[in-house]
Amino acid sequence: MTQKNISILGSTGSIGKQTLDIIKTYPESYNIIALAAGKNIPLLKTQILEFKPTIVSVTNAEDAIELEKFCAQNNQKIDIGYSNKGLETICNTQVDLLIVAIVGTAAIKPTYIAIKNHIPIGLACKEVLVSAGDLITELAKKEKVPLIPIDSEHAATQQCLLTQNTTNQIIESITLTASGGPFWQLPYNEFKSITKENALQHPTWSMGNKISIDSATMVNKGLEIIEAHHLFNTDYAKLKVTVHRQSIIHALVEFIDGNILAHLSPTDMRFPIQYALDYPNKKPTKLKRLDIHKLSALTFEEPDNKRFPLLNLAIQAGKSKGSYPAVFNAANEAIVSLFLQDKITFLEIQEKIERILNTFNHYTPTHIDDIIAIDSKIKHDIFQTT
Ligand SMILES: NC(=O)c1ccc[n+]([C@@H]2O[C@H](COP(=O)([O-])OP(=O)(O)OC[C@H]3O[C@@H](n4cnc5c(N)ncnc54)[C@H](OP(=O)(O)O)[C@@H]3O)[C@@H](O)[C@H]2O)c1
Repeated sequence: MTQKNISILGSTGSIGKQTLDIIKTYPESYNIIALAAGKNIPLLKTQILEFKPTIVSVTNAEDAIELEKFCAQNNQKIDIGYSNKGLETICNTQVDLLIVAIVGTAAIKPTYIAIKNHIPIGLACKEVLVSAGDLITELAKKEKVPLIPIDSEHAATQQCLLTQNTTNQIIESITLTASGGPFWQLPYNEFKSITKENALQHPTWSMGNKISIDSATMVNKGLEIIEAHHLFNTDYAKLKVTVHRQSIIHALVEFIDGNILAHLSPTDMRFPIQYALDYPNKKPTKLKRLDIHKLSALTFEEPDNKRFPLLNLAIQAGKSKGSYPAVFNAANEAIVSLFLQDKITFLEIQEKIERILNTFNHYTPTHIDDIIAIDSKIKHDIFQTT
């Protein structure tokens, strides 16, 4: 079997680390070409020694200089870059799969460049499709580049669809499951005292900070509905959410004849990551398999739009198209970052996103740079005023 050459954007994050975890269990199958991280230089150094990439990128110039010294001391011949240019070098280097696991819209331009270079994408970063879904999927289709989902619900959906060689005409609905987050059972009158520490305690998944807060507000599921709309070219009317506290079923696809396929896997992101790494093939897993006899119950509840109004607001932004989803996403990213810095309360997240979405002078972006300009403006305005 030939080795797959892999690059990872966001190698020091939750998805990046789990991707490397799979890669090191199959040294005969994968070869790391490039790693991009943000600011976690100690971890990146360990990854460099273990996986021996030929290209590395970090956020800051000072960190790149430090890494150059480190690589010289350790006899590692590596092309080291930083900031957007460093990411671009990686996306201009041919590989069999680029894992996009940076958090947020910083991943848009790199993904766009990689698609132009015909590099298949393993997409964890949902914000790329939320903000720039029309332009990215149009380009991927034109260049015939696969966008392989790593989000568990979308990897699950794709697997249900593949087995049926499905066209949209025979799909009745696609249902994404949501865990409900840490506050599913919390009475609304207690939402005002929610702290950052409470919100980061996800009941079933261990993830990065931003996605954990998005799960607590249920924005995450709204973003995923927009992501599903673009990935599967499915009307919003056919996309649904159910709250499934156990996070064992990740998606259900109902066909027009009433038959439903559900996808089950353990609550472990390495399953969808391995799916993307091996797509379109499959190999035997070395991970702990799901033992269905150990499951006590699988439950499903309607989403609670009164206590979690951001779920619908995100979906509405997606449906409104044009600049709406990019504005929603940028506002959410900036406002979540303010919450993570203890500058605003949990309830203010919703209030602020709604205000920004309603006051922005919306238009239809026609180029990826329009999306990036919207994103920068919204974030700049929010950080200036708070
Ligand atoms: N975690 C999950 O289970 C999960 C599940 C489904 C989907 N996702 C999606 O996957 C994406 C990543 O999530 P995560 O939980 O892995 O996030 P995370 O743990 O916060 O990791 C983010 C990664 O991106 C790097 N990074 C941030 N800004 C960067 C920049 N400008 N240039 C280069 N690297 C940058 C970080 O580097 P440093 O740490 O070195 O600063 C880190 O490696 C998100 O879009 C999320 O929605 C995650």
